Amino acid sequence: MKKEFLDLGKQPIANKFLNKGEFDNEFLFDLKAVFDDDTKLVSLKEFVAPEMMFNDDYTYHASMSDTMKIHFKSLADRLQSEFNPVNVLEIGSNDGIFIRHFNPDNTFAVEPCGNFADMTNDMEYKTYPEFWTTKLSKLIKQEHGTMDLIYAANCICHIHDLDDTFTAVRNLLSEDGIFVFEDPSLLRMMERGSYDQLYDEHAHIFSVTALKNLLERNGLEIFRVDNLNVHGGSNRIYVKLKTNRYRTHEQSYFSNLMQEETFGLDVFNTYEIFAERVEKSKNELVSMLKKLKDDGKKVIAYGAASKATTVFNYCGIDNSLIEYITDTTPSKIGKHQPGTHIPIISPDDGFDETVDVAYLGAWNFKTEIMNKETSYLSRGGKFITHVPQVMMFS
Ligand code: TYD
Repeated sequence: MKKEFLDLGKQPIANKFLNKGEFDNEFLFDLKAVFDDDTKLVSLKEFVAPEMMFNDDYTYHASMSDTMKIHFKSLADRLQSEFNPVNVLEIGSNDGIFIRHFNPDNTFAVEPCGNFADMTNDMEYKTYPEFWTTKLSKLIKQEHGTMDLIYAANCICHIHDLDDTFTAVRNLLSEDGIFVFEDPSLLRMMERGSYDQLYDEHAHIFSVTALKNLLERNGLEIFRVDNLNVHGGSNRIYVKLKTNRYRTHEQSYFSNLMQEETFGLDVFNTYEIFAERVEKSKNELVSMLKKLKDDGKKVIAYGAASKATTVFNYCGIDNSLIEYITDTTPSKIGKHQPGTHIPIISPDDGFDETVDVAYLGAWNFKTEIMNKETSYLSRGGKFITHVPQVMMFS
């Protein structure tokens, strides 16, 4: 049975950045989170139609971040040296940040956002411009045979029907093949109070516990879990066919399950406590921004992340409190944040000496940003974050 524990109010499509003429009739939905007592899965109560989020206008470019480029290069090297896969498939290949490290002759991709599918097809990687389904996995198997490595980053948690997703993987995996995927970690979200991991695209926030339950009922088994710092704390899950007796559960699998149980991720009350913390975070952030405004400070936001869409819409923060948002992504510059319609401008135009305080929308890149913005910090510029609690720092 699914039980609701969090209501983040009316929210827009977090990555649908708007031009000035597009504010009227913006699509909004109720962003609520539920806990499934049976599988222990945390999901959104209401799913948004995939075509509304993942289409030719999709703006998230993984390669915009140096952190992510290094992340995927080192993973590709490790997977190649440890598992030596021949046939490789990536689900949700975005701008090719991961597959570019593999041989195009036997590396394939699935990417429903047409703008990105065109990009990787141009790079000679056969890319299916479709959503990941059992039907598609059968077609790929017919055309190219089974896969030794199926990989997905920040993609599986976007898919509503996980049973179909995992059946599709089981169907396409070679007998000793592996399925590796990484998504934000529920445990990290709960520990850090980062409720902004919840937005339309993140249909689920995974615990290892819930994944174990869902994978096992679809003929798959987790054998290893890596805990990662990217995207505010993620888990990389390594999966094999249940019938593959060659690999067994590793220590990291058991220790992650144990940590989650210790935190109480299998108990509904843990989520009720989290909801109280989220409300407190909202009140503190709004009070801090109002005080800064009263003191005559110029406050902006740094990074038009999807996560910031959740925070500003939930907290009712508009451009009376945040003058504008700076972002380096060309397709976001000149547009407006969904829901709040706060303008987004280039850091070259807006991250200047007039700024007193910047709310860190891209808080998951804190280290990269701190290293980059030394001159802002040395002239007394300050940052605000709400993770793990609302605070100002420099
Ligand atoms: P990100 O956390 O990658 O994504 P999500 O949308 O999943 O929450 O978003 C970070 C945003 O911050 C992205 O639009 C790029 C921007 N950004 C900057 O403007 N400057 C920077 O130095 C970095 C690291 C990111």
